[in-house]
Amino acid sequence: MKQLFYLFLSSFSLFLRKHPSRNGSRLPPFLSFGLFGFILFVVVFIYGEDLHYFLGIPEQKQLGATAFSSNFQQSKYHPHLDQNSLNPHPTLLPNPSPIAAQLIAKTGTKTKTDDYVDHLRGVQEEYCDLFSGRWVWDETNRPLYEASECPYIQQQHSCQAHGRPDKDYQSWTWQPHGCSLPSFNASIMLEKLRGKRMMFIGDSINRGQFISFVCLLHRLIPDHGKSMTSFGSLTVFRAEPYNATVEFYWAPFLLESNFDNRATLLKKKKKRIVRKGSINTHGEYWKGADILVFNTYIWWIRGSKLQILLGSFEEEKKEIVEMQTEDAYRMAMESILEWVDKYNKTRVFFTGMSPSHGRSSDWGGDKDGNCYNQTTPIEDPSYWGTGSRKSIMRLIEDVFSRSKVPITFLNITQLSEFRKDAHTSIYKNQWIPLTPKQLANPVQYADCVHWCLPGLQDTWNELLYAKLLHS
Ligand SMILES: *[C@@H]1O[C@H](CO)[C@@H](O)[C@H](O)[C@H]1NC(C)=O
Ligand SMILES: *[C@@H]1O[C@H](CO)[C@@H](O)[C@H](O)[C@H]1NC(C)=O
Ligand SMILES: *[C@@H]1O[C@H](CO)[C@@H](O)[C@H](O)[C@H]1NC(C)=O
Ligand SMILES: *[C@@H]1O[C@H](CO)[C@@H](O)[C@H](O)[C@H]1NC(C)=O
Ligand SMILES: *[C@@H]1O[C@H](CO)[C@@H](O)[C@H](O)[C@H]1NC(C)=O
Repeated sequence: MKQLFYLFLSSFSLFLRKHPSRNGSRLPPFLSFGLFGFILFVVVFIYGEDLHYFLGIPEQKQLGATAFSSNFQQSKYHPHLDQNSLNPHPTLLPNPSPIAAQLIAKTGTKTKTDDYVDHLRGVQEEYCDLFSGRWVWDETNRPLYEASECPYIQQQHSCQAHGRPDKDYQSWTWQPHGCSLPSFNASIMLEKLRGKRMMFIGDSINRGQFISFVCLLHRLIPDHGKSMTSFGSLTVFRAEPYNATVEFYWAPFLLESNFDNRATLLKKKKKRIVRKGSINTHGEYWKGADILVFNTYIWWIRGSKLQILLGSFEEEKKEIVEMQTEDAYRMAMESILEWVDKYNKTRVFFTGMSPSHGRSSDWGGDKDGNCYNQTTPIEDPSYWGTGSRKSIMRLIEDVFSRSKVPITFLNITQLSEFRKDAHTSIYKNQWIPLTPKQLANPVQYADCVHWCLPGLQDTWNELLYAKLLHS
């Protein structure tokens, strides 16, 4: 499965981004990244086969050692670094961002936002299911921003910059059957965020939604009043004039796992190990947030069973049991509910399964095709791809329906299933130079998991906006 490979590479993007300058003797993160790249290269070279297995890349699509090494030579970062500087726990964080930590949940005064809530109520009646609808063409109002206007778009989302020839995927707007989505008003959203900390927590797909959210907001903030910085697993966008932050925290399983830490990749680990009941490990960094947006799915579904660690990762002799994906996923969902309850969080969202379009036979296309070269949405209103497990959807329904705590479920699966045209496909940073064989057959390396920006994930944020302002 190529999907995991992409998720894995995406996890590096945090380290590719500009970091705050830090004084002191610690190795600057970008150098760590360079060193890490080198070590990974060595690992690929020596343990190539295992790594391919681990990353789920079929043999003929290998990261050739040559390809990797030439990529490395092109890199401006040099590997002659002190081995000891490589932090074995690179995702360990300093304290949560200092400004963010200062932010207090409630402003205590009636904000401007409250005045608009009534207006929204009229739009969003009880009976209207915002997630049930259809895509309509709207060239006038779409896209909501241009990629060139948003400096935060990362290499893995900037499709136009990577040569995508068509733009139609940017012009569709979501039309729920029973009502209309309120348009995303950045000034109202920023008022809502005043003095608050909002946090997206999950995998690289959630990072895409975070970036989209920042792109939707940032124009109203002057350059000197905004910044984006990363500290290990945490990325923080600051909107100084609003004394607000929008953050992303990388935790692909939400619970502690052996994939949280990129050093794991060097240890030839193939199995996914998730630690039972470990929600507080990462939760420590979320507990100060006022608005939380979780996701987790794609990392759970590779293979059928997961290794569940009962003790801790530090213990010499590890007690591990195998669990079916569904049971393990349920365990994680229940942990989230308990955590939300324990910390009295009231503004919590959970984004559902993000579908992938790796098999065009799902929608009646070529036997060997995928999202590559797809330029129109799927029209069949009942379309559902094979990558989105109904069992997981039922499980989420079940867990959430029994929950005492208010978690808003963003049910984006069906509406995103229609969007086979919205993936980054081959129009993204490919991380490693492509082989002539791959170049001759782009279907082989198309990423049908992540989404172009601007694009589909802006709609997810419109839905989030509607839900956030409604209650
Ligand atoms: C930012 O918000 C915090 C918490 O609400 C408050 O203590 C602080 O004074 C605010 N800072 C500014 C510059 O408004
Ligand atoms: C956003 O809302 C504010 C306050 O209602 C309004 O003045 C402004 O025109 C709106 N902006 C857009 C783009 O609709
Ligand atoms: C949550 O609320 C309960 C009851 O109001 C309170 O006893 C508890 O201390 C709160 N917990 C946190 C972490 O704020
Ligand atoms: C892409 O789609 C166009 C039109 O649908 C078709 O003519 C072309 O052959 C396709 N290219 C590939 C490589 O599949
Ligand atoms: C999400 O929407 C699908 C239809 O698109 C529906 O079958 C499912 O029950 C919904 N899930 C939840 C948890 O509401």
